[in-house]
Amino acid sequence: MTETVKVHFLPEDLLVEAPVGTMLPDIADASGADITFGCRSGSCGTCRIRIVRGLECCSAMTAEERDFLAGLDVPVDQRLACQVTVLGDVDIEYLGIDS
Ligand code: FES
Repeated sequence: MTETVKVHFLPEDLLVEAPVGTMLPDIADASGADITFGCRSGSCGTCRIRIVRGLECCSAMTAEERDFLAGLDVPVDQRLACQVTVLGDVDIEYLGIDS
């Protein structure tokens, strides 16, 4: 049996289950979650999110993501959704590039 994770998208309060190890953009696309993706390669910032709960359940930052977020000087709980693989239950708030 495949283990699943629960992803809670905020602010729309959408709860989705997916197999452990699924890329967050795939979960967002399949569920209709309100996250806007641009480049999907960690270089535009349109998919910026805050991990409200479960930061330890997200994959490590890619080099592209680390470089981009370092330029914005944001808190460590902010990630680029297009670069995140979900390894456990998480609550996610969409921020986008302008907030
Ligand atoms: S979609 Fe461009 S950084 Fe994620």
